[in-house]
Amino acid sequence: MKMLFTTMAVALPVVTAFAAEPISADLRETALGTFKALPSTTPAVANNPITPEKIALGKALFFDPRVSASGVLSCNSCHNLATGGDDNLETSIGHGWQKGPRNAPTVLNAVFNIAQFWDGRAEDLKAQAKGPIQAGIEMANTPDQVIATLKSMPQYVDWFNAAFTGEADRGTFDNLAKAVEAFEGDIGHAGPLRRLPQWR
Ligand code: HEC
Repeated sequence: MKMLFTTMAVALPVVTAFAAEPISADLRETALGTFKALPSTTPAVANNPITPEKIALGKALFFDPRVSASGVLSCNSCHNLATGGDDNLETSIGHGWQKGPRNAPTVLNAVFNIAQFWDGRAEDLKAQAKGPIQAGIEMANTPDQVIATLKSMPQYVDWFNAAFTGEADRGTFDNLAKAVEAFEGDIGHAGPLRRLPQWR
């Protein structure tokens, strides 16, 4: 107990001194040069024109636990849109309740990132979406298995047909990723969905 009091006595003046330190004008200028305000509209994403049909399919996929091998985990399990687009855990819990090694970043406004994941290893959101579906500690599924599951449901066949009309093979893993990207492009502050009353 004595040691605790000694530590607190030493720590308190340090904290007070730090709080009293004024923020230098230089630091503010540097920050303003580095960080810009977010654009007010979602930028076009490469090779994936965003349509309402793709957003609708992507939304269904984002919330659907049948995308995972166990049928238990959806994207929303770790990126809960009701709690800021993440799981508020130190590191995420995935397939078989395994604890992963990394913290889940929010998906809100992720469309504005120059690359995805903490180490930037995915070029964009459509490349990123294929990762968690196949990762053993996240959704532990395979491209063939998830597509077979989705194609077994007539509603998903209709949604894929509507979203990728004109393509010979519409129900593909690539198209799944593009639909998820379209939905994620729509859930930031600039997405059209945010302007609807039920999302405010
Ligand atoms: C088991 C939890 C879990 C599930 C399920 C999951 N994610 Fe993630 N997600 C994470 C973690 C952890 C990271 C960070 C991993 C890293 O950087 O290596 C991440 C990173 C991301 C990022 C990158 C954001 C950024 O700022 O870099 C996006 C976007 C994303 N996930 C979308 C999805 C989508 C879409 C799905 C469903 C197809 C999904 N996630 C399923 C845990 C999860």
